[in-house]
Formats: sequence, C-alpha cells, structure tokens
Amino acid sequence: MMPKHSSVVLVSGASSGIGRATVEYLASHGFHVFAGARDRRALEELSRIPNTTALRLDVTRPEEIRAARKMIEDKGMGLFGLVNNAGIVEVGPLMDLESASLRAQFEVNFFGIHELTKTFFPLLLQSQGRVVMISSDSGFFATPFAGPYCASKFALEGYSDSLRREITHHGVKVILIEPGPVATAIWGKAEKSIDPDKFPHSIFIKEAKALGEYSIAQGQRDALPPSAVAEAIYWALTSAKPRLRYLVAKKSWEYRLIKILPAYFVDRLVRKKIQQTIRIAKKMAAE
Ligand SMILES: NC(=O)c1ccc[n+]([C@@H]2O[C@H](COP(=O)([O-])OP(=O)(O)OC[C@H]3O[C@@H](n4cnc5c(N)ncnc54)[C@H](OP(=O)(O)O)[C@@H]3O)[C@@H](O)[C@H]2O)c1
Repeated sequence: MMPKHSSVVLVSGASSGIGRATVEYLASHGFHVFAGARDRRALEELSRIPNTTALRLDVTRPEEIRAARKMIEDKGMGLFGLVNNAGIVEVGPLMDLESASLRAQFEVNFFGIHELTKTFFPLLLQSQGRVVMISSDSGFFATPFAGPYCASKFALEGYSDSLRREITHHGVKVILIEPGPVATAIWGKAEKSIDPDKFPHSIFIKEAKALGEYSIAQGQRDALPPSAVAEAIYWALTSAKPRLRYLVAKKSWEYRLIKILPAYFVDRLVRKKIQQTIRIAKKMAAE
C-alpha cells in the first residue's frame, strides 16, 4: 500500500488516448487522480471514474492552470505526481509552414508543459514527488515532414534533462516516457494535416504525402495500446529508483539502434524510405 502523500497525481490531456488510459490505470491502482480536460463531455465522463476528480485544464491558459492548482490545494491531499501528457501534432514540409504553425505546436507541447510544471513545482517539492513527461520516439528521432512535432519533443527532452539536473537533489524526480506508435486519435489528426490542398505550391508535397501516409499506416500496424504507456507511467511514479527514460515501443530495438547510429547513416536510411514510399504510392495509383 502506497503512503497517502504519494498517491495523488495530476494528468493533463485526459480526455482521450494515453491520458485517458493513464487516468483509468492509476485510479484503479491506488492513486487519486486529478484528470485535466477541456471538453465538457470528457469532463463528465472522467468524473464518473472512481478515485478521479475531473478538472478543466487547457494547458495554454494560465488562468485555468492557476484554478487547477487552487482546486488541488483546497482538497488538501497534496500532489505527488504531475503527468505532462497533453499534446498536439503539427506536420507538413517545414519550408511551407508559417511560423504560426510552429508556435501553435510549441504552445501546447512545450510552453504549456513549462507553465504547468512551474505552477505545481511547490506542491511536488513538498511531497518530494515526480514529474513524468510524455515525450515520444520523435524526441530523439526527427522524421521529415513532422518537423514542428519533432522539434517540440526534442525541446521537451532537453528541457527535462536540464530540469532533472536542477531539481533532483531537492528530492523531485523527472522521468521521460518515450512511446513509439500508440493506437490513439492522434494519427487521424496527423493525417488531416498533410492534406495537399493546404500546400498547393509545395515542391515537397508528393514526398510528404507518400511518407506521411506510409508512416501513419505503419504506425497503426505497429501501435501498442495506450494501456502499455499507462503501465510505464505507473512504474515511473511508483518505482523506488525509476529509470530516467522509458522507451515504450513494439520494435524498441530499432529505436535503440537509431539512438546510436551515426546521423549520416540514419539520413541515408530515411532517404531510401522516402523513395520506397513514393514507388509504393505510384504503384497504388496505377492499379
Ligand atoms: N499516439 C502516439 O503514437 C504517441 C506516440 C508518442 C507520444 N505520444 C504523445 O502522447 C501524448 C498523448 O497523445 P495521444 O496519442 O493520447 O493523443 P490524443 O488522444 O489526441 O490525446 C491528446 C490529448 O491532449 C489534449 N490536448 C490537446 N491540446 C490541449 C491543450 N491546449 N490543453 C490541454 N489538453 C490538450 C487533448 O484534449 P482534447 O480532446 O480537448 O483535444 C487530448 O486529451 C501526446 O503528448 C503525444 O505527443 C503519442
């Protein structure tokens, strides 16, 4: 049985996918979960899960973050864990994207995380708690045409390494979760954003579309259920000596290889993959 002070956690982006699965997993494994979501229907659904308090939380709205902190403080249960899960995907050829698209990406996946972590740090310091960052394979492997998303996750990895080295000796742990493909709504959202109509004059769209469609299809084939990530988050929160990074993927050996191969070699593999996806797309169009 976990001590009371270590069993309270806040999960952002709890309306669907990994966030929702994490709420359900933690709430059924001894935690009280504050589940942050934006949508009224999602909040109603979350509030029906035992051991769960749903709260409105858009991570780009400082007033909602402050209100969430007040609500958690008023409950008087403390806070042991913050799971920074909320995230969006912006994709497309970098040379065709407006800065606004990159800013929108960073508002949620980076600045939102900073705002949330900074606001809740005093409570985590009090409980000697843990920050769990939901990064991605895109946090160490930057794929073409997913530049904004990869950049945001690389930024999160750097941020988390700095933060860990600043606060660990004050008793607060920082743990990165790096999932590969996971079966969630995020794939459908990414598919919509490589719509060729959005980039009518792009010289890259043929490659971007072919690789995007291939990656999404392959991602769906290789995807793990969100509960697999929820379980890794549980271990990150409960292990006496959690790892600094948890890689959660079906083909984890491929990712481990990518982490150690020279970048020029990975570049060549990526180029080959793009050419292969274009050939597949041409063949399918001819059939
Ligand atoms: N699925 C994968 O293959 C995969 C792989 C690696 C990493 N990840 C990471 O896992 C995390 C969860 O993604 P998912 O796959 O579970 O996708 P998802 O089902 O689309 O979940 C994303 C969550 O983030 C929330 N969100 C978006 N913008 C927000 C904002 N401004 N404020 C608060 N919440 C916001 C969404 O809420 P709404 O419903 O209100 O939009 C939703 O609850 C993300 O950080 C993602 O990058 C996913």
